[in-house]
Amino acid sequence: MMQKNRNIILQALADGQFRSGTELGELAGVTRTAVAKHVDALKALGLDIFSVRGKGYKLAQPINLLVVDKIQAAFQQRSGVAYPASMHVVPLIDSTNTYIKDHLYNLESGAICTAESQSAGRGRQGRTWVSPFASSIYLSMYWRFAGGYQTLSGLSLVVGLAVADALDDLGISGVQLKWPNDIYVNMQKIAGILIEIEGSVGDEVDCVIGVGVNVQLPENVDTIDQPFTDCVTQLGQRVDRNTLIANILYYLHQYLNTFSLHGMLPFKEQWERRDAFFHKPVMLLAGQNSISGIGMGIGETGALLLQVDGEIKAFHGGEISVRAG
Ligand code: BTN
Repeated sequence: MMQKNRNIILQALADGQFRSGTELGELAGVTRTAVAKHVDALKALGLDIFSVRGKGYKLAQPINLLVVDKIQAAFQQRSGVAYPASMHVVPLIDSTNTYIKDHLYNLESGAICTAESQSAGRGRQGRTWVSPFASSIYLSMYWRFAGGYQTLSGLSLVVGLAVADALDDLGISGVQLKWPNDIYVNMQKIAGILIEIEGSVGDEVDCVIGVGVNVQLPENVDTIDQPFTDCVTQLGQRVDRNTLIANILYYLHQYLNTFSLHGMLPFKEQWERRDAFFHKPVMLLAGQNSISGIGMGIGETGALLLQVDGEIKAFHGGEISVRAG
């Protein structure tokens, strides 16, 4: 209820116009004092809301919020069919991946959760994922995958490709992939993927596919520990997050269905065209060990191929990270 009222107030302010405390209170069905508390909570999320005596509250800049109907309409337009599973769209959550994990048993394959911000966003290798309000995409999808554990390294590459192709459609040029599934433009990270495996029955594996895309990060994000960029910087224009989410979902469904039937092979060439290290020197780090080689693309199941001392070696998933050599 709290959350719902806060959302009503946020939606009423989204267009950047003044709204009086009384008006907001009537819309949300709460007192003016409660409105003031909700506004404080929204400010704590990083929203720039100010108040003027006699006029009410106003957002410094209008914002384009996530709206479930808009995501569904954009998906329908893109794919010609309605979204086949449920959508949970919220202003704030700990982590969209955690939400899917916690609700796995009530969800159907394809169900998604997306949020305006995350209080405990997670990245790969135990890192946190900085998640400021309405400035990125934080999206998780549940996927029940029938291919068994052995093909999961390929799965994570295919997810990277889906996100890269959705960014390409937006008009961003030069989108590249860094094995296994980081997404870069000009060697700066624009999106990341965290796939979590939640157990299996026979060959059926429950996967949580988490996607974070930097759309328009605030100027003052200084907590990201690697070179990064965002969609608005690359495009020089505003980006509709609802449409971008729909396009990511469109590619995810297309590619994951093909992957389930035919594996990684149909995607090998497509992936190598986007490989940031194809025929380039790379350094592979696994714990304390490092190996230098030349990137030779990927194997049929998505293993990273490196030429090391004149020999081609394959490296599989796990906690490996790749750097320019
Ligand atoms: C990486 O380290 O590159 C992976 C980042 C993944 C971030 C996304 S945002 C949505 C989903 N929820 C999370 O807590 N993490 C993923």
